[in-house]
Amino acid sequence: MEPGPDAKSIVITGTTRGLGRALALEFGRLGHRVSGCGRSTDEVDGLNREAGGRQHHVVVNVTDPQSVADWARKCLERDGPPDLLINNAGMINRHAPLWKVPLEEFRALWEVNVIGVFNVCRAFLPAMLERGTGVIVNMSTGAGVRGFASIGPYCTTKHAVEGFTKSLAEELPEGMAAIPFQPGVVQTDMLRSHYGERAADHPTPDRWAKVAAPYLLNLSSRESGQSLRLPAVK
Ligand SMILES: NC(=O)c1ccc[n+]([C@@H]2O[C@H](COP(=O)([O-])OP(=O)(O)OC[C@H]3O[C@@H](n4cnc5c(N)ncnc54)[C@H](OP(=O)(O)O)[C@@H]3O)[C@@H](O)[C@H]2O)c1
Repeated sequence: MEPGPDAKSIVITGTTRGLGRALALEFGRLGHRVSGCGRSTDEVDGLNREAGGRQHHVVVNVTDPQSVADWARKCLERDGPPDLLINNAGMINRHAPLWKVPLEEFRALWEVNVIGVFNVCRAFLPAMLERGTGVIVNMSTGAGVRGFASIGPYCTTKHAVEGFTKSLAEELPEGMAAIPFQPGVVQTDMLRSHYGERAADHPTPDRWAKVAAPYLLNLSSRESGQSLRLPAVK
């Protein structure tokens, strides 16, 4: 659908696969303007084609502050400050007890899951603050509020996302929101790497996005600072 006069401007990171891709397409179907990013050129090109040239997905690594800043400048020039900014890009570690996790893998997760969120917020927030409206949703998980064996690095970074987002919520002016969001359990590459064959028991990203997109569009300053969980998707 072509964006109409009530279209929201939505920015999502990690749109090449999984939840981010499904959300981008669903927001587009609902008539909103969507910008996104990921690291894989082929997947970015494929998504732009699938969105019929109406969305803007580009290759940006969220761990690189300069690339994120350049991307944000272009998004802001084109669509103005986002009404909804979703920090979705993320990675999980290979199963291992914490003391066997290679330092480089631990660092890589920290860079994407925490520094990535920080880079994106730093790049988009000044324009959102100047306008005084906008909702920031940072992807959390059940592993962001309790511990789990074998995915300690992932839990660590998602607990950091919860703390980051709740602190940001304390700093934002009235009318804005920062919300840590648990999407539930969805059949994506990330879930397959964690659950193996059991991932197939869970909803596909497309089915999930039909419920998640309207839910996210309804969030407002009322929910700022609350850890929210999407109701179960059948
Ligand atoms: N699936 C679930 O059940 C579930 C449950 C709870 C929370 N979550 C959270 O939801 C979010 C999405 O998860 P998912 O399951 O959709 O994961 P996924 O299928 O592995 O997709 C991850 C996305 O993040 C992008 N990404 C990773 N590193 C990036 C980087 N450095 N820069 C830019 N983009 C990057 C990937 O694209 P490229 O590889 O092209 O860069 C991909 O588009 C994550 O934050 C995850 O923690 C998922």
